[in-house]
Amino acid sequence: MSAGHSPTAFVRRAREAPRQAAAFARLSPVARAMLRERLTYLSPVKLRRLEEAVREVDAAGVPGAIAEFGVALGGVSIALASASPERALHGFDVFGMIPAPTERDGEHAQQRFEVIESGHSRGIRGGEYYGYMDDVLGAVRASFARHGVDADGGRVSLHQGLFEETWPRLADEIGPLALVHVDCDWHDPVAFVLEAVAPHVSPAGVIVVDDYVTYEGARDATDAFMAAHPEFERRHLDESLSLRRHP
Ligand SMILES: C[S@@+](CC[C@H](N)C(=O)[O-])C[C@H]1O[C@@H](n2cnc3c(N)ncnc32)[C@H](O)[C@@H]1O
Repeated sequence: MSAGHSPTAFVRRAREAPRQAAAFARLSPVARAMLRERLTYLSPVKLRRLEEAVREVDAAGVPGAIAEFGVALGGVSIALASASPERALHGFDVFGMIPAPTERDGEHAQQRFEVIESGHSRGIRGGEYYGYMDDVLGAVRASFARHGVDADGGRVSLHQGLFEETWPRLADEIGPLALVHVDCDWHDPVAFVLEAVAPHVSPAGVIVVDDYVTYEGARDATDAFMAAHPEFERRHLDESLSLRRHP
């Protein structure tokens, strides 16, 4: 029996349901559509946290673009691009099979990757796992277009490749960042992204780390980053963690 189907998981989900339903009711129509269309792994609570972060940086006039590291099927990037129609949005991903975890990741990450590698991973709520699709980037572009956003390199750009290769080439061109969503599961990419984007985050800019609670490696990488970067304060820790650069 997998953890997701155990009696404990069932009880946890039943307890969680009203909270998720309340968050769903407060989401924008686009974010709700992303959940209905199975274009994001995020829960309503996590999506709501991100929509609040967009409102926060917009209200404070924080300069810079929005970036997502770990786009998968694009649901979060589409919701963020729609929530802040004046800002540039940059989505980074290999748009293919997720790179492997390393020895710095815990058992949960290793087991998850074994299932992915075996070819038996299920996708979002039973759909096709995006890592097995022939043209993930094409599918993501089509989803953006269906929701009225061109991901053609104008206001919204999708950068295919390892973060470790794409970000260093593009960082100067992209300039300051107001909001960064770090959603790449394992220790090494989380550690890389946090260190790489930190100098580019504007004062009062926000970083949301999706996997802080889910994966040990992501948590270790984030804790090490926070210890080394007192210019970032912890704002919220719920299903995800958000950090803010001191204004
Ligand atoms: C959990 S998924 C992202 C989920 C997505 N944000 C959503 O809303 O459903 C993690 C993504 O991170 C990407 N990824 C992980 N490590 C990477 C790396 N080093 N370079 C590029 N992409 C990476 C994977 O390809 C995968 O698409």
